[in-house]
Amino acid sequence: MAKTILISNILPWESRQIIPPEIDVEYNDSDQPLPKAELIRRLQGKDGLICHIVSAVDDEVLGACSDLRVVCNVAVGYNNIDVAAARRRGIVVTNTPDVLTETTADFAWALLMAAARRIVEADQYARSGQWKVWKWDLLWGVDIHGKTLGVVGFGRIGRAVARRARGFGMRVLYCDTIRADAQTERELNATATDLDTLLRESDFVSLHTLLSPETHHLVNERTLRLMKTTAILVNAARGPVVDEVALAKALAQGWIAGAGLDVFEDEPAIHPGLLPLRNLTLAPHIASASHETRVAMALLAVRNCLAVLQGQPPLTPVS
Ligand code: DGY
Repeated sequence: MAKTILISNILPWESRQIIPPEIDVEYNDSDQPLPKAELIRRLQGKDGLICHIVSAVDDEVLGACSDLRVVCNVAVGYNNIDVAAARRRGIVVTNTPDVLTETTADFAWALLMAAARRIVEADQYARSGQWKVWKWDLLWGVDIHGKTLGVVGFGRIGRAVARRARGFGMRVLYCDTIRADAQTERELNATATDLDTLLRESDFVSLHTLLSPETHHLVNERTLRLMKTTAILVNAARGPVVDEVALAKALAQGWIAGAGLDVFEDEPAIHPGLLPLRNLTLAPHIASASHETRVAMALLAVRNCLAVLQGQPPLTPVS
């Protein structure tokens, strides 16, 4: 019988056109997440699902779709999928690591630099007509070069962020449950430490952990109070790693100097306490959003799906 796939949201043409014609594709050409009942309805009789992070593929969805063999997330993070429930049912889950590493690291740095050098405020000032005379004390930021960067989560993206710090002559501290090998530490000029020490000693803290029960609200009132009052926090990982209520308080009351956020606890909602803060740079979850990278992610997700449907091992399974 012909294999069938649901692509539950918009996906670039470059990736859809590699699907062989003998595979039936139901394509939802929209950014809007399908409501759960609709997702379940459309998944009936489907062998594969290719989805974005906006699709919640939970136990109920997986249990209601008895033909499903593979769920391919077009993202490296997979907290929208109940991986344990999929495993129990023998459904393969895949993600898109590697292809977005460098782009995401670039963007974490863009947020770091924008926050440190007050780029958004500068843009608003320059456009607004307030610039009447060159001012000696206008929009002072903080230096980045020569400072200490703390990387929380030292996987592929964390290491790519650390690699960029070499060009800025920075000292790098990192914390992770798995220690990097000595050569990596040497190459990246990185020292392993515990989270509290990292927060106390870093001038910039960049988050690159997966979201798990252990990392939920890892940055909270207690840990924010450990940071330097001059420090800047960057989150391009997952929103719930940071307690937004605590962060809003920390930024408003000057426990830390600034932050750059690409991800939020309840996307697309942003905690109202964060919105008026001028020492905060915001982005709508776009760290991997370069043309080349988004196409590469989509291609990898489609290739994962085709591999499983053709009885081959997936290229990048979630382990
Ligand atoms: C990811 O890949 O996990 C991003 O957050 C979405 O592109």
